[in-house]
Formats: sequence, structure tokens, C-alpha cells
Amino acid sequence: MSWKGKRGMERSNLLPRPATIVDIRQLTDKEKLFTIRMNEGGSLQYRPCQFVIFSIFGIGEAPISITSSPLDSGETFELCIRSAGNLTGAVHKLSLHDSIGIRGPFGNGFPLERIHGKDILIVAGGLGLAPLRSLINYVIHHRWKYGKVTILIGAKRPQDILFKEEVMKWENDSSVDTYIAVDLAETNWTRHVGVITGLFKYVDVDPLNTIAAVVGPPVMYRFVVAELLSKGIFEGNIFMSFERRMRCGIGKCGHCQINGIYLCQNGPVLSYRDARKLQEAM
Ligand SMILES: Cc1cc2nc3c(=O)[nH]c(=O)nc-3n(C[C@H](O)[C@H](O)[C@H](O)COP(=O)(O)OP(=O)(O)OC[C@H]3O[C@@H](n4cnc5c(N)ncnc54)[C@H](O)[C@@H]3O)c2cc1C
Ligand code: FES
Repeated sequence: MSWKGKRGMERSNLLPRPATIVDIRQLTDKEKLFTIRMNEGGSLQYRPCQFVIFSIFGIGEAPISITSSPLDSGETFELCIRSAGNLTGAVHKLSLHDSIGIRGPFGNGFPLERIHGKDILIVAGGLGLAPLRSLINYVIHHRWKYGKVTILIGAKRPQDILFKEEVMKWENDSSVDTYIAVDLAETNWTRHVGVITGLFKYVDVDPLNTIAAVVGPPVMYRFVVAELLSKGIFEGNIFMSFERRMRCGIGKCGHCQINGIYLCQNGPVLSYRDARKLQEAM
């Protein structure tokens, strides 16, 4: 497995390539947005819902979804990282201009060719908005190519909603329908209170023409899929991104294997039709 650098040189995809942090934004108390530039220059070519493997030299590596749209990126790309443990905790201590390593992009990404001309229903729970933000901004950029676009966003509390300014922009954009739910809120919260599935009552879909994209915590999938199926959306038109512990990212180590599938290569995006055949995927 290898990639070709800007100068056409072949290099192993197992070797982190040096990159630099060029911007850091605190999004919530647990998540920061990092803007990254590859030291070799050029733009990282990727699809929404692909991921990179981020490393801090001497500490370790973790897979992280690319959150920027491939169309906005130019010579930089963005990663939204939650401080969860050793590596991501160390990432949160990094400063502007610090050096890091990047491998990838890896994974299949979202099947963009499937959504052309279709209605799109995007369901983002918590940190799931990070990969889906890439897809949402890609779709809004090409808005004329799609039918109805509906975005459902769920978070624990109002202060946990990621990319608040952008979410408000989507809410005010009359070409997309955006609904937000939080599990818990003060009385001045004017949107929905309750789990994300409570938003489905606002959504009217044409089941034969709708593709759904779902990313969120594992517990959300079963309930969201039940809602989508009850609206008549085909199993093969429901796409979900799955997280597994990953090491190599390129189908060599077996860490992310479920039955015969390597999630780092054949995923992380699978259709519900394919995912339900895999024991322990759902
Ligand atoms: C394809 C993919 C895309 C991802 N995208 C993002 C992203 O955009 N932003 C982000 O913040 N995180 C993302 N993650 C999760 C991220 O990789 C893990 O949180 C990270 O590896 C934790 O590393 P750590 O050393 O800081 O924590 P650790 O000390 O290894 O773990 C901290 C906690 O997170 C859990 N955990 C660790 N890795 C995983 C995993 N792969 N799946 C489920 N639970 C895990 C552990 O069980 C533990 O509870 C993604 C994971 C995958 C597989
Ligand atoms: S992470 Fe090594 S095979 Fe998928």
C-alpha cells in the first residue's frame, strides 16, 4: 500500500507524513477543531466520511474523521477531536505550529455517486456531526444536484452542539431543513428536547427517492434505523459509519475486522443492508 506524493514519489501508507497545526479552535468543553497543513504542500484528496490516522511522535496514533468538506479545503483540512484518553488528551495540549504526523486518507468514505439527484436525510448524533459536516457542506455546495435535504442533529445539551455557528447557518438556509434535539435543556431552549428519534415526526420523506446518512454513538443506530425503515426507506439506501479500534488503517493488521470485512478499508461507511449481515456490527 502506498501513496504518491506531490513530486510523484511512492511512499508507504504506514509511514506518517509530517504536517503542521495551523489553527486551533475550542468548539465545546471536550472538542477542539484543528486545521492542518501537510508539510509537503498540496491538498489532501478525500471524500466525506474518510478518515486519517493522526499521530504525535513518541505518543501514538488514532483514527480521526476529516470534518472539512473536500471542496473547502485547499491546502488545509480540519479534524474535530474529542479528548478521550492518552493520545487525544495529548492532542488537546498541542499548540499552533506544532508538528504532527498524518497517514491516509483511509476508508471508503460516503458513496457520493449514490446520492446524485436524490433526497438526502442526514442524521448526526453527538460527535457524528464531525464526519457528516464534511458531507453536509459538500451537498450544500452542490445544492442544485440534490432533491430535498434534511439534517437532524442530536446532542446531550445545547452547549455540546458542535459547529454552532454553522448549524445556525444551516437552520437559516431555506434550501435545507434542519432540526435539532437535545436530551437536556434550560427552559429558554426553543428547539426539541428529547432523543434524536423524536425529530422524525417533523420529517416527511419520499421513501423511494431518499438516501439516509447516519453517524452517531452505537446505541443510536438501532433506534434511528427502525425510524428510517418505518418510513419505508430501503435497507440498501441507509448508510452508516462504524467505529472500531484501528491500527494500520490499510487492511493489514486485522484490528478492525468484523467477519470478512476490514472496516478501515471496506468501511467505515456500510449500508444497513450490508451491516446487518455482520454479527456484532449493529
Ligand atoms: C474511523 C474512525 C473515525 C474517528 N473519528 C473521530 C473524530 O473525528 N474525532 C474524534 O475525536 N474521535 C474519532 N474517532 C475515535 C478516536 O479514534 C478514539 O477516540 C481515539 O482513538 C481515542 O484514543 P486515545 O488514545 O485518546 O484514547 P484511549 O485511551 O485509547 O481510549 C479512550 C476511550 O475511548 C474508547 N475508544 C478508543 N478508540 C475507540 C474506537 N475506535 N471506537 C470506540 N471507542 C474507542 C476507549 O474504549 C476508551 O473508553 C474515530 C475512530 C474511528 C475508528
Ligand atoms: S486497522 Fe488494520 S486491518 Fe483495519
